[in-house]
Amino acid sequence: MLNKTEDKIKHVAIIMDGNGRWAKEHGKDRKYGHRAGAQNLIDISETCIKNNIDYLTVYAFSTENWNRPEDEKKSLFTLLEEFYKKEIKRLIKNNIKICHIGDISKFPERTYNIIKKTEEETRQYLEGKDIKLTITIALNYGSRDELSRSIKNICLDFDKGIITTDDIDENLILRYLDTNDIPEPDLLIRTSGEYRLSNFLLYQIAYTELYFTDIYWPDFSEEEFIKAIENYKKRKRRFGG
Ligand code: IPE
Ligand code: IPE
Ligand code: MG
Repeated sequence: MLNKTEDKIKHVAIIMDGNGRWAKEHGKDRKYGHRAGAQNLIDISETCIKNNIDYLTVYAFSTENWNRPEDEKKSLFTLLEEFYKKEIKRLIKNNIKICHIGDISKFPERTYNIIKKTEEETRQYLEGKDIKLTITIALNYGSRDELSRSIKNICLDFDKGIITTDDIDENLILRYLDTNDIPEPDLLIRTSGEYRLSNFLLYQIAYTELYFTDIYWPDFSEEEFIKAIENYKKRKRRFGG
């Protein structure tokens, strides 16, 4: 549901862009940039907790990123596996919940298994505990793919008689999206100086505030995050009213 009443920033979404260009500027390969980007996600999740944000949703691999060279994809999947094995465990121990959106079944089997295992461990470990932050990682995510999959599921439930055409409204659609159990983002940040959404959360950001910065993702520090938050706080959200 749209978070219309509160001033509190509940949910921040980030298009973590610019790893490759950041690496190039440092005379390194793209892999080095992705590694620095992954480390920055850890730092920013701590910043979110400090700032009382409940949900952080990050774009890590898009449905279009399959078009990248094989060796870059391979190094991204290896990095993902390492990241889950090492860092995510630490996050969970700090009462951070890890969720996913996107179709992870398309990933190589080893990567897929590690992601699934982490999800399961998160669920078990955090049962009954106070959750400090929910991080949703978008993996093989694209809004158009998400919408297609959700329409398919709506049709299947219609066929089974679980829903009727009268049930179909904005809220029902929200419930069939991958993001069904998280609120809509209050603020969407895109780093690296690109002014586009690249197929990210198109349905969910109908009334989200947008913030674009030239800073490359690995350099998007706590200070830069606070700048985005301060900028958001100056805005007046009207929701058409
Ligand atoms: C974002 O950084 C991370 C992914 C898309 C996986 P890029 O890899 O897009 O870096 P640039 O945009 O080429 O600098
Ligand atoms: C968007 O960045 C996807 C992620 C950050 C994972 P891209 O670098 O893939 O997007 P474009 O190609 O610049 O639109
Ligand atoms: Mg990019």
